[in-house]
Amino acid sequence: MARLSVNVDHVATLRQLRGTKFPDPVFAAYLAELGGADGITIHLRQDRRHIQDRDLAILRQTVSTHLTLEMASSDSMAQVALKYRPDMITMVPERATEKTTERGFKLETEGSTIESLADRFQKAGIAVCIFIDPSEDNVRLAADLGADFVELNTNYYAESESFEQEIEELDRLDRMANLSAKLKLGVAVGHALDYRNIANIAAIEAIEEYSIGHSIICRAVYVGLQKAVEEMKELISKHQKK
Ligand code: PXP
Repeated sequence: MARLSVNVDHVATLRQLRGTKFPDPVFAAYLAELGGADGITIHLRQDRRHIQDRDLAILRQTVSTHLTLEMASSDSMAQVALKYRPDMITMVPERATEKTTERGFKLETEGSTIESLADRFQKAGIAVCIFIDPSEDNVRLAADLGADFVELNTNYYAESESFEQEIEELDRLDRMANLSAKLKLGVAVGHALDYRNIANIAAIEAIEEYSIGHSIICRAVYVGLQKAVEEMKELISKHQKK
C-alpha cells in the first residue's frame, strides 16, 4: 500500500497563534503514527510562522517512521536541514506572503539552485524530493537533476472548477506519475488533498506516497487526530487498485 505522510504544520499554527506551548506538533506526530501514518512531514518556513527549529530538532529524535522536511531552496535553510538530517527533504518554492505553497517548481528556469543543494543533501545521506507542477518537462528535468523523488502538485486537480477539468487534471497526474516511475523517480503527490478528492488519486497505481496536512488536521478537531489518520488510511486502501 502507498504510504501516507501526515503534515502536522497546522498544529503548530494553532500554537503560534497564541504563543502557548500547546498544541505540540511533536505530540501530534506521535498520535498520527498511532493512527497508522507512514511518515511525518513538516514545512520549516523561512518566516517560522508555524513549525519552529525546536520542533524539527525534537521530531528528528521522536519520529519512528519517516521524517520529511519541506523547505525553500536557500542556503540558510540548507544549513538547518544538514544539522538535523531528516530522512527526506522536499524542496518547495516559497513566497513570503503566500498562505500556503502556491505552486511547484518550474525546473526549466528554477532548476539550477536546486541542483547544487540536492547534491549536498544526497552526499549527507538525505533523500531528495522536488515539488513540481505536473508537466513532462518538469518530470524529465527532475530526473536529469538526479532527484530521488518528485512530489506532483495536486492543487490544480483539487481546485478544478468542473467535472471535465477534474478528469483532465487527474489524467495529467496519472501520466506524469507513470512517466516519473518510468524514469526511476519515486512518486509522491500532495497539496489540497482531502477525504473526498483522495478517491480518484488513490487509484493511480504509480503513486508511492501521499503528503496530506490541512484536511487531516481539520478533521482531527472533530474526531481526534488518531482517528482522522485512520480514516484517511482506510480511504486510500479502499480506493487503491493494487
Ligand atoms: N506538499 C507540499 C509540497 C506542501 O507545501 C504542502 C503544504 O505544506 C502539502 C503537501 C500539504 O498540503 P495540505 O496541507 O493542503 O494537505
